[in-house]
Amino acid sequence: MNHRTTLSIAAISMVMSLLALGCKSSGMAGANTTGQSTLTSSSSAGRAVANFNCDWKFAKGNQDGAEATDGFDKLTTSFDDSAWTAVRLPHDWAISGPFNPSENGYAGKLPWRGVGWYRKTFTLNKADTGKRVYFDFDGVMAFPKVYVNGQLAGEWDYGYMSFRVDATPYVKFGQANVIAVRADTRRHGTRWYPGAGIYRKVIMTICEPVHVAHWGTFVTTPEVSNNSATVRVRSTIENHLDTESKVSVEVVLLDVDGRQAAAVKESETIPAGGSRELDQSLVVANPRRWDITSPKLYAAKTIVRMGDKVVDADITAFGIRTFCFTADDGFHLNGRRVQLYGVNLHHDLGPLGAAFNRRAMERQLEIMRDMGVNALRTSHNPPAPEVLELCDSMGIVVWNECFDKWDDTADRPRGAQPMEQHGQRQLRNFVMRDRNHPSVVLWSIGNEIADIETNRSGNAPELVKFLGDVVREHDGTRPVGMGCFIPSGVSQGVLDSLDATGWNYARRYADARQRYPDKPILYSESASALSTRGFYELPLPQEKTQYSRGLQVDSYDLNSARWSDIPDVEFQLMEADRFVAGEFVWTGFDYLGEPTPFNQEARSSYFGIVDLCGIPKDRFFLYRSYWRPETTTVHILPHWNWPDRIGKNVPVFVYTNGDSAELFLNGKSLGRRTKISRSDEPVSLAKGKPAKSGYEESDKGNMIAHANDGNRFTRWCASDGSVEQWWQVDLEEAQPVRYVSIDFEKEAKGYQYRIDVSTDGSAWQTIVTKNDWSGNGTCIGHEVDVKARFLRIEFSQLQEGSWASIREFGVYPEKVDTSYYAVTDRYRLRFNDVVYEPGELRAVAYKDGKEIGQAVMRTAGEPAAIRLTPDRSELAVTGEDLCFVLVEAVDESGTPCPLADNLIRFEIDGPAEIAAVGNGNPLSLEPFQADSRKLFFGKAMLILRAKEGGARRVHITATTDGLHAAEVSLQCRTAR
Ligand code: GAL
Repeated sequence: MNHRTTLSIAAISMVMSLLALGCKSSGMAGANTTGQSTLTSSSSAGRAVANFNCDWKFAKGNQDGAEATDGFDKLTTSFDDSAWTAVRLPHDWAISGPFNPSENGYAGKLPWRGVGWYRKTFTLNKADTGKRVYFDFDGVMAFPKVYVNGQLAGEWDYGYMSFRVDATPYVKFGQANVIAVRADTRRHGTRWYPGAGIYRKVIMTICEPVHVAHWGTFVTTPEVSNNSATVRVRSTIENHLDTESKVSVEVVLLDVDGRQAAAVKESETIPAGGSRELDQSLVVANPRRWDITSPKLYAAKTIVRMGDKVVDADITAFGIRTFCFTADDGFHLNGRRVQLYGVNLHHDLGPLGAAFNRRAMERQLEIMRDMGVNALRTSHNPPAPEVLELCDSMGIVVWNECFDKWDDTADRPRGAQPMEQHGQRQLRNFVMRDRNHPSVVLWSIGNEIADIETNRSGNAPELVKFLGDVVREHDGTRPVGMGCFIPSGVSQGVLDSLDATGWNYARRYADARQRYPDKPILYSESASALSTRGFYELPLPQEKTQYSRGLQVDSYDLNSARWSDIPDVEFQLMEADRFVAGEFVWTGFDYLGEPTPFNQEARSSYFGIVDLCGIPKDRFFLYRSYWRPETTTVHILPHWNWPDRIGKNVPVFVYTNGDSAELFLNGKSLGRRTKISRSDEPVSLAKGKPAKSGYEESDKGNMIAHANDGNRFTRWCASDGSVEQWWQVDLEEAQPVRYVSIDFEKEAKGYQYRIDVSTDGSAWQTIVTKNDWSGNGTCIGHEVDVKARFLRIEFSQLQEGSWASIREFGVYPEKVDTSYYAVTDRYRLRFNDVVYEPGELRAVAYKDGKEIGQAVMRTAGEPAAIRLTPDRSELAVTGEDLCFVLVEAVDESGTPCPLADNLIRFEIDGPAEIAAVGNGNPLSLEPFQADSRKLFFGKAMLILRAKEGGARRVHITATTDGLHAAEVSLQCRTAR
């Protein structure tokens, strides 16, 4: 039996970290100086799992004959790859650039499209002759073909999917072998930066011919109570011998402390060349739950014996928890409602590109969790397996997604294999790989599939059901859902077979709620808000789509994509719609590609709450203050360096979990502001009053009463696009009216109209005439001074394509702020009238009358020195561990200089190298792999990777002309 006989949770993490460990330190695979890896699996029974990431050679472009060798018997091969680049996996060939400035930014302007080849030589021990040899690829972008000793051993057609290659028929024991992998991204469709090459880890597994199948263990917990849990373990055992094999399969459960909690044994005969599934149930007493607050993990060890000999042992981590998505009360975990505070994350790791790195991902999740995140959507593809391991151990629930728009831009060439077959193969791997993770609570069969949602081909309901059933065939314990975006499609019945639906933006779930009152709903994308870290521009935008001309987006958090909203709007929505399980913000981090609204000019997104290199934007603190109400957050924006605005207005916002804050400028109070609650908000005199119109679009539920129901997410709409349609409200008694506000379905500029009032319903007076195409945004307000009982709006002209349609018609006795931004007063404290003078801003925050904390923002003097702040002081020498070093310019007294853009140079002394540099500027076309970086609004990031090898200190020096240099030391240690 191999070293994992004495299994514990610690052993599982050891196996996991073995895979994270460097190739040289794994103890199972070594690399000799000639660049060949030798798999030194123990000669005892069982499997050997080896990190297969080191000592690869890489070349871009077609390489004729690169897959070939000149026969199995020679240690050298005829193909000469000596000029190829030595690389270590995971590897993304495109992230080193160069950027193509003239290319559209949708995929990051990086050279990801093309062909690339990888080769590696390895030797297998003679003693292992007769064993099985498998290569497990977590992901290759894209369309990989895997050759072993010159023969095609396997291939796959989805760049985000993990797959296994059975190399047994092609390998030779006791000799050199060559594996060659061809990746070809040319037919890969994408809407963001996909990366290129073998961008996730590869492991090699050597095992006996009778063994647990790949992803062949499935652990479920059909009954869970406080006293006991039934744990069902299904194990598929394969027999690759040409005789049948009698085996005994023992399942041992280990509790969260690694102690044996239960065990069961069963015998079975596995047919020659076949497989059998064993289904064993065990009981765990007093189970400890996996929960977001305390993610306890158990393990199931499957031991396969032939006679007394252990031929295989497999370990599966799992959690004991109950959950359900309800139609009326959101998500329940272990019996209580949990509001999901989620983010969407794409798979790239910013300056590191798509090359997966466990520490970089862990850091992303740590930053998200600090903000209050308890849920992740893997938009829009299967993640690296480590992402789910991290979510398991950190207590983050996961919407696990398989595809983006598979009718269109997904990694599936149009006109290729029908989706039934493609989807079936991908979903099988997807579910079988991930079904034991307690963090996974939903399978998504895709995002925004327009043709399907609108049932263009007529068979969408059947196709959705088919794909959903493929998922259910491999896991019946989790709901199957989809990310939708076309409410009108709901009437097509396409979503009938789904267990839950997710909706992207603008309360588009309303129609699904009506049609499927019994189906749970998630807000799968919310708040596609936009900002650039550190960039502020005045005057403030008046509309969510009023962007700066400077190709950056203002960080006052008042901008969003056209189809979406600022965070505050979504907060309010989630408070109102408790049937929704929660929101998944688009996105937690900036990512490469999709740089809305500057799609041509920029190369990375503005959507992130955190910038591309992991520095929080202001929005981070808005979310933190709301999602973590019990944790102190006091944050001031903007910076306080406005030399051109002395004596002029600079609005100041405070984000705090407190309910109020007093702001001081140079010691002088500028007053205290308090967040408003729903009860403080002005109520329209028209709310809920009798309304009428000659028209309503009843088939879509856009009824007359929706224009004055107090909910801007419902609307009245006329029954067609003709003009001279009207809507009228009766306040039930004549009263003074000073303000009328209208929130239209589309931008107010598209509507011309007249508003008439009457006290008795027969004598009418016109109080507003709008006969121009003015009005940005959907809201418009009219100051009036009149006594009225009846108010009536009559449309005179409509812009092409617009129908008469009103979300809210508000009538008020005095002027009120009914603008789009009024809602922000519930969640942030806006000091709009501050007159700038240099010095110190101080915010003192209160909750329930008690001070909870303060924040200070000072005017910085001239940059005087560089400051380096590493995120950790010790690194493991696995060749994969990272340190993120924040680089800033500070003035004489240590105040960060928010406008500094000095070019900083880095020197590294010791066993570490620069993995990447970045600064969060979506426009920057400076290379990510460099030893210098310009500061962007005062900050940049240096990402260091500790080399594989012995323990030593690493010394970093940062210099720039005219400023004091900075130095910092880190300790590299051997992994514990
Ligand atoms: C959604 C889409 C996402 C992303 C986002 C940007 O509609 O699902 O992938 O493109 O818009 O707002």
